[in-house]
Amino acid sequence: MKKRRKGCILNVASTAAYQPTPFTAVYGATKSYVLSFSEALAQEMKDYGVSVTCLSPGPTDTNFFAGVGVEGLAEKARGIWAKSRRMPSCKVAEIGLDALFAGKLSVIAGGLNALVAFANRLAPRKTSARLSGKVMKQASTRGSV
Ligand SMILES: NC(=O)c1ccc[n+]([C@@H]2O[C@H](COP(=O)([O-])OP(=O)(O)OC[C@H]3O[C@@H](n4cnc5c(N)ncnc54)[C@H](OP(=O)(O)O)[C@@H]3O)[C@@H](O)[C@H]2O)c1
Repeated sequence: MKKRRKGCILNVASTAAYQPTPFTAVYGATKSYVLSFSEALAQEMKDYGVSVTCLSPGPTDTNFFAGVGVEGLAEKARGIWAKSRRMPSCKVAEIGLDALFAGKLSVIAGGLNALVAFANRLAPRKTSARLSGKVMKQASTRGSV
């Protein structure tokens, strides 16, 4: 892409990238990496006609919940992971592609998800980690993981 001076990259992070995520600590840290890496790479590539966009979905209805090795999680998950609170995957994909074609640096899928991520940026890191821990614990102890 750099050689031909043309291209666009869409990386997928998560709303988990925007604060520490106790009880899914490694997952959240890898998503912070994807966000930071994408934002840095976008700067490195901007003079070469290559755009980098980072899509951060919140809970989305995919095979993700079936794929974590816990039987029934896809249907039984509660709290922020409840099936009723997940965005349809086609909507999230559309948001990502719209951002990619608009050359945006990053996009968070869903207004409420964006608001929470913004609030997390303003809050002290410790407060943000504590609140996130409560939410993740609730999701992971009510019959999910
Ligand atoms: N679902 C959510 O709530 C949610 C929220 C935030 C972020 N995300 C992120 O969205 C991304 C996609 O997840 P998803 O929700 O669409 O989950 P998914 O339905 O489980 O899809 C995961 C995809 O990754 C592929 N994959 C897994 N391991 C791979 C490997 N080693 N090499 C190449 N491909 C591999 C799988 O391919 P096969 O089918 O061939 O195995 C599958 O197509 C992930 O980065 C996830 O962290 C998901």
